[in-house]
Amino acid sequence: MEVFEAIKKRRSIRRFDPTKEVTDKQIEKFLEAARWAPSAGNLQSWFFVVVKNKKTKQELAKATLGQDFVAQAPVVIVSCADLERSASRYGGRGEKLYAFQDATIANQNIWLAATEMGLGAVWVGAFDENEVSRILNLPSHLRPIAILPIGYPAESPSPPSRRSITEISRKV
Ligand SMILES: Cc1cc2nc3c(=O)[nH]c(=O)nc-3n(C[C@H](O)[C@H](O)[C@H](O)COP(=O)(O)O)c2cc1C
Repeated sequence: MEVFEAIKKRRSIRRFDPTKEVTDKQIEKFLEAARWAPSAGNLQSWFFVVVKNKKTKQELAKATLGQDFVAQAPVVIVSCADLERSASRYGGRGEKLYAFQDATIANQNIWLAATEMGLGAVWVGAFDENEVSRILNLPSHLRPIAILPIGYPAESPSPPSRRSITEISRKV
């Protein structure tokens, strides 16, 4: 699949086929896609928690203000920004901006890789951060930025509309 095709084909998938597992090999591919993302100073200020444990997925779903589909996905990846790592070179800008950008791009790489592999995912950003950190026992320098439930799609939503190019850009 061409990159542009994956970009356009990627959708938010919130229903997963319960009969189909995601393999460790596929998970490794997600992480491979993540680690080749660009990052400020190539510091790679990110960390990923791969959750397959049923009880932990259920706890995470609760922490997402009742987005139960999180627990239904065979695998859930929680992408985190490593504030300390970026701050070590870039100070406040690293801590407040670059670490989040690094983790965000890597998270998007995972999503696009999943699309290419015929899998579906959704970026879940609405969650109780303290709860997620507690459930996953995250140290304070790791801020969870996205919860990504991934599985084989059990729905194929139509693409939601986009603002036009003229509305979102200008030429100078
Ligand atoms: C930062 C961010 C936070 C999001 N949070 C949620 C969320 O908590 N729950 C959810 O179902 N979708 C969430 N989404 C998915 C968006 O709703 C979705 O990307 C948008 O409606 C466009 O649809 P598409 O992804 O199919 O193109 C989030 C997306 C982003 C980028």
